[in-house]
Amino acid sequence: MVTILVGGQWGDEGKGKIIDLLSEKADMVIRSQGGNNAGHTVVNAGQEFRFHLIPSGILYPTTTCVIGNGVVLDPRVLLEEMQQVQSRGISIDRLVISDRAHLIMPWHPILDKLEEEQRGDDRLGTTWRGIGPAYADKIRRIGFRAGDLLKPRFLEKKLTFVLGKIKNPILEELYHVAPLDRQAILNEYTEYGERLRPYIKDIFPIVQDALARDGRVLLEGAQGSMLDLDFGTYPYVTSSSPTAGGALTGSGIPPSAVDLTIGVFKAYTTRVGYGPMPTELADTLGEQIRKIGAEYGTTTGRPRRVGWFDAVVARYSVALNGIRSIALTKLDVLDGFDPIRICTGYLSKGVLQTYPMSNISHLKHCEPVYEELPGWGASIACIRRPDAGRPRRVNDASGRTPGQPPLDTRAGRRRSAATWSCDSGTHFSRSTKARGD
Ligand code: IMP
Ligand code: MG
Repeated sequence: MVTILVGGQWGDEGKGKIIDLLSEKADMVIRSQGGNNAGHTVVNAGQEFRFHLIPSGILYPTTTCVIGNGVVLDPRVLLEEMQQVQSRGISIDRLVISDRAHLIMPWHPILDKLEEEQRGDDRLGTTWRGIGPAYADKIRRIGFRAGDLLKPRFLEKKLTFVLGKIKNPILEELYHVAPLDRQAILNEYTEYGERLRPYIKDIFPIVQDALARDGRVLLEGAQGSMLDLDFGTYPYVTSSSPTAGGALTGSGIPPSAVDLTIGVFKAYTTRVGYGPMPTELADTLGEQIRKIGAEYGTTTGRPRRVGWFDAVVARYSVALNGIRSIALTKLDVLDGFDPIRICTGYLSKGVLQTYPMSNISHLKHCEPVYEELPGWGASIACIRRPDAGRPRRVNDASGRTPGQPPLDTRAGRRRSAATWSCDSGTHFSRSTKARGD
């Protein structure tokens, strides 16, 4: 049974909480894209764990946690996370790192920041973690892979070429900053290789074996569909594919093996970084939601932009990812609001659009069309069953036949309309807060 979990909006939908819930029942959890631009905090038995790279399934004694080939891995950050887990007496023996995963090298965060500075007013608002430059090098075929860490002589040769011929000339001649020291990097990364050696493997046979045994495999997504390199608001996107398709290429799982794709959506919209966001509330209402929902990126501390639920985005994500089940988070943040608005279309140049336009200038200038619903004027923190009518509107507006819950294709059964999550509730054995950007 393969389940893909994706973020349906611009990231920070509260995926961590749902992943944590599903990980408990998974034999294998795979991270397939992104890097330490993402992250979340898990609070387990009063202990707080911060994860940017290791799947939170590591807290369960039998779950194999895989860092897939599609991830860009900062070995320093990974080792810190491993240390964090081990120091609390939790084994990391079940961690596997794909030898095909690309590495964040010391020049990547430096270039990320320098490129952003060069863009000036047109900057993207990246997390400065070196994600874009690392994926760019992967595509340019000058990337370093986790497997390279185990071959010091190969590493040295490649470093001589990439640093000496490409990166240092760029740093010195283009940006007029100090060059990086080849020997220091070689020493640092060789040491990382020694420490990570037991975990770096070819994951292909391991994943195939799990599929052959019909193991419960969970592909945990990072970021969100609107940050997808192809289908997001380019260029205001991340450099990976946080969609169901990306989850497959990032892990080596064939499309035919997928049983279910779950989309996580927040009951309103947030975005960090720049780029169009049609339902943005740049007023006191937005400020109120930000405060109540604690919408601040905790990796970079940036306040998240806040807006109403955008069913145009949700409809697009449902179609793009083949989402069959929606987990709606942070609904309780809207407890005190009346009315509550849902954007059902965009008016652009006099035409009603039902999907986000590829032209980001049109997206930036469109007028959102809203449907108003009365607020419920009470705390829903104690509600445990999906019997209130309101969230069903989210489900319907996201592209499902009105009144009909999504069809579970595997069994031909009707599934419940939404997987429920209540941020302040005790529905979950452990509480998880969004972390990272
Ligand atoms: P990058 O991924 O650091 O290159 O940043 C590119 C864009 O993606 C920026 O707008 C970031 O704020 C956004 N972004 C990257 N990772 C996350 C995330 O985990 N949650 C929300 N936004 C993110
Ligand atoms: Mg996040």
